[in-house]
Amino acid sequence: MASNCLIFLLLCLFVSLSSASLRLGFCKSSCPSAEAIVRQAVNKAVSQNPGIAAGLIRMHFHDCFVRGCDASVLIKSTPGNAAERDHLANNPSLRGFEVIDEAKAQIEAICPHTVSCADILAFAARDSSYKVGRINYAVPAGRRDGRVSIADEVAQNLPPPFFNAQQIIDNFARKGMSVDEMVTLSGAHSIGVSHCSSFDGRLYNFNETQASDPSMDPRYVAFLNTKCPPPSENIDPTVALDSTPNRLDNKYYLELKNHRGLLTSDQTQMSNPSTQRMVLNYARHGATWAAKYAKAMVHMGSLDVLTGKHGEIRRQRCIVN
Ligand code: HEM
Ligand SMILES: *[C@@H]1O[C@H](CO)[C@@H](O)[C@H](O)[C@H]1NC(C)=O
Repeated sequence: MASNCLIFLLLCLFVSLSSASLRLGFCKSSCPSAEAIVRQAVNKAVSQNPGIAAGLIRMHFHDCFVRGCDASVLIKSTPGNAAERDHLANNPSLRGFEVIDEAKAQIEAICPHTVSCADILAFAARDSSYKVGRINYAVPAGRRDGRVSIADEVAQNLPPPFFNAQQIIDNFARKGMSVDEMVTLSGAHSIGVSHCSSFDGRLYNFNETQASDPSMDPRYVAFLNTKCPPPSENIDPTVALDSTPNRLDNKYYLELKNHRGLLTSDQTQMSNPSTQRMVLNYARHGATWAAKYAKAMVHMGSLDVLTGKHGEIRRQRCIVN
């Protein structure tokens, strides 16, 4: 009924002006099928290439840690400005961009100028987690998109793979994320791949006396030596982050326990007593980890979001100049 609809819209307007936070089913009536469209686009892409799920989950992390979850990671560089997506942490390794634009195009066709790219990315990360891990959770929405993206801000906000446990803990703490959440979300490294350049410091010339990182299983070192040529050869293949790279599960933690973490930032969580306790707990209790993962993803998805009158809803595309 028209009057009910009007009342709802007024309510919706009132709530969106008065609250600076995200909500479940944000103005669901404004585009009821948006989430289904994103899920379908993700399912289709991930069925063809499971690595896309890893790409989309990582993209959401890289978006949220740099200027908040505002889709700034999707903005293209211009002659006068190097954008986030062209920082070394994102280019060439970040993947899945086309899935976001595909979903945006379909949503724009039925609800023009209604759903932000930041929300689409948050939905896509959730749908990826469900597709490859059967982990489901509700995503509060109502994010708006930023207009600014600066490559230099990536290094100031995202932790590099050579950080030790304390450095990653501090990095997450600056975002208001706990040690537990950091260990929990690192479990995303249960899927996807890494370029050799992100960890080859552990394989060759570790230090003056050790060729390789002694915290790594020597058999794993030998395996990785066959995959990654010495850095001087200037080719940079990829290696799976864990032994089941298309399955989002707690096996990652078991591998850390067995000294088979690929990145320093992964393995270091076994060296620090407080994180070690969490790693061992998650290695044993997959369901506990999955529930915590869902919660921590929702928290990460709320970092420094633009709501209300801040930011904008992008038109037509998410990949913009
Ligand atoms: C804790 C600090 C973290 C560090 C230092 C880190 C670093 C990295 C690095 C270096 C790669 C490999 C990139 C490449 O060389 O191709 C990677 C991949 C990945 N990261 Fe992280 N990451 C961290 C946390 C996270 C979090 C919180 C998430 C998501 C919740 C995440 C999700 C992923 C995924 C899914 C991949 C695989 C991407 C693909 O296959 O395309 N990471 N990460
Ligand atoms: C090399 O690394 C090992 C293991 O971390 C350490 O015990 C040793 O002191 C390091 N040596 C030098 C010269 O830094």
